[in-house]
Amino acid sequence: MQELIEKIRADIAAGIEKAENGTRQELFELKMKYLGKTGEISALSKGMRDVPAEQRPAMGKLVSEVRAWAEEQFERTETLLKKKELEARYKSERIDVTMPARFAETGTLHPVSLVKKEIIECFEGLGFEIYEGPEIEKDYYNFQALNIPADHPARDMQDTFFITEEFLLRSQTSSGQIRVMENKRPPIKILSPGRVYRSDSDATHSPMFHQMEGLVVDKGITLCDLKGILDEFARRMFTKETKTRLRPSYFPFTEPSVEVDLSCHNCGGKGCRICKGTGWIEILGAGMVNRRVLENCGIDPDEYTGFAFGMGLERIAMIKYGINDMRYLFENDVRLLKQFKD
Ligand code: DAH
Repeated sequence: MQELIEKIRADIAAGIEKAENGTRQELFELKMKYLGKTGEISALSKGMRDVPAEQRPAMGKLVSEVRAWAEEQFERTETLLKKKELEARYKSERIDVTMPARFAETGTLHPVSLVKKEIIECFEGLGFEIYEGPEIEKDYYNFQALNIPADHPARDMQDTFFITEEFLLRSQTSSGQIRVMENKRPPIKILSPGRVYRSDSDATHSPMFHQMEGLVVDKGITLCDLKGILDEFARRMFTKETKTRLRPSYFPFTEPSVEVDLSCHNCGGKGCRICKGTGWIEILGAGMVNRRVLENCGIDPDEYTGFAFGMGLERIAMIKYGINDMRYLFENDVRLLKQFKD
């Protein structure tokens, strides 16, 4: 039996030496071969029965010695293999923090959205609230309540997309003025951005475009307030030196009505290609809210006055960014859009 123990010990030593370069699974199988329930060392313990009684204590000692030794060998090798495995993983999963990062392309805001955002920020800073009205609108809000009766020639000025006799695609954000004044008592100070539609298409017109409407109604509002607000707007949107100029005009919903020009931000008013030599660029229509419009909304025109203005966002974007054909704004060519990355 002693010989057998020595043989087992030698076998285990040889096995372990090999196992040091093998896998943990191989090591486990080897361990089972000796220390498992039916393993060779367990068999030794069972074999004690056949050992003569006087040799039993000495033999028993040898068996438990070899068992303890084997357990230690396997444990040591297991720890070694675990460490090796971990090192291999660290090596293969190492991250090179000095590698250049991969950049994801980000999109940009469309120039019309940029302009819209900027105008909203400017007027919000001046205390205006945002109101967005419906794009499918009633004739009443788009025309009648704005003092544009059915037979008014102003209806021909705007070639409107009618859906039914009563409903149409709004041709101006001015319709929002009525919706606000119907529901809110002065003081009113709103800005209303949105899409509008007209049957029109060339280098400076698109069947769908964007407008921004402004409306202020309160006691004692005058044309000076309009001029002051627009001056501030011009300075914030363009340059500090930008001036505004009011020219008499006509809109059915304002009286008096004005056309507002900006001093040319390109030449500073001297005259250039952009302002066609005049030093001024027309940017919006405005005026004092017509008393009839106030009356239509149940607001007493002897108590309250107001001003309104309306501008085309594509037009502002074209002026601001020097774009000479409105169609560029609707083609969504990334070569154009990429230029607006901040
Ligand atoms: N709604 C007008 C248009 O579409 C623009 C406009 C002019 C709006 C004068 C106004 C205004 O509020 O007072 O051409």
